[in-house]
Amino acid sequence: MTKYDYKVTAAGRINIIGEHIDYCGGKVMPAALSLNNTVYVRPNGTDKINISWTTLDDKVTLDINKLDSYKGVKYGNYQAGAAYMWQQAGHKVLGCDMLHDCTVPFGSGLSSSAAIEVSTIAALATIADEPIDSVRIALSAQQAEREYTGVNCGIMDQYASACGKKDRVMLLDCSTVECEYLPLVLGDYSLVIINCNKPHNLVESKYNERRSEVEHGLKTLQTVLDVSCLAEVTEEQFEKHGNLLGGKVYDRCKHVVEECARVEKAAVAMKRGDIKTLGELLNASHKSLKELYEVTGKELDALVAAAQSHPACIGSRMTGAGFGGCTISLVHKDGVEQFKHAVAKEYRQNIGYDCKIYDAEISDGITVTKI
Ligand code: GLA
Repeated sequence: MTKYDYKVTAAGRINIIGEHIDYCGGKVMPAALSLNNTVYVRPNGTDKINISWTTLDDKVTLDINKLDSYKGVKYGNYQAGAAYMWQQAGHKVLGCDMLHDCTVPFGSGLSSSAAIEVSTIAALATIADEPIDSVRIALSAQQAEREYTGVNCGIMDQYASACGKKDRVMLLDCSTVECEYLPLVLGDYSLVIINCNKPHNLVESKYNERRSEVEHGLKTLQTVLDVSCLAEVTEEQFEKHGNLLGGKVYDRCKHVVEECARVEKAAVAMKRGDIKTLGELLNASHKSLKELYEVTGKELDALVAAAQSHPACIGSRMTGAGFGGCTISLVHKDGVEQFKHAVAKEYRQNIGYDCKIYDAEISDGITVTKI
């Protein structure tokens, strides 16, 4: 391999609980994964960012004076968007050679795009001798996802990718971007991540659709409640005023209000080491995402049903945006191997193709190593 100066990584993530509420100002509970994107980087003294990949033959060159012009490219648009937003935020972007190596599976709902965006910016900051400000990097990466790639996402993925800590979950308040780190102590239980392997589609359009539904609901509720975001609406207030909302908008907002309450309960359970309660909250979250928010689909539902029916499992839910991607399950350590075997078999029988089980640890967000 050509000699690079630095190895910079940013993580993929799971979300333990708090789904589809980051863009409503809610608290979420993600954790960074050891599946990550690595950028090997060195400055090249030109105006060009030359990108190559360990997994592709293609090479892409970006002109640092025209970073806004790569939205339509097949490869390199995440890097271009990230570099562009970082530059727009007033940071120096230098020409460089980058080799990307991504171990976060694409379309898995484990935030490969956030890992790419965050590691690209961290690499650019590193070669410009800027100190790594993980929160700023996360915010520029989120802006890239929203304004460059067109997914109107919240801050959860980029924050987790940048600011995650080994063996810690984050209790991230998305309205203030303040974060409390909680130790991930699961006692006799392990977290199992399984990809339903559904071909990824509709995520972007459906995601943006859900956002506008809840924004619409908020506007209506604001006619009677003094709240700045949906996460501020209590369950009691929703009980009283929810009838102002029609059909699907009612369902979507009910999910948000109740999911926010579940996160609070999950944080308490986590701090007490009450993993059984955490498991029950995971199950309730999935049910709500299926019935009220309608972002699961038959594949994720089949995977969760198979998991929940296994005796070693005390809770299972989809994680991430949904419509495909991964589930997480809390499984008793003594039964993990049987669980994996049984769920994989049942999923294949019901859906007709295999799911994929990942071995991943809870890990750090951005890391920078001189090489
Ligand atoms: C995607 C988005 C996040 C969040 C989740 C759903 O991963 O990027 O901001 O909204 O979906 O919780």
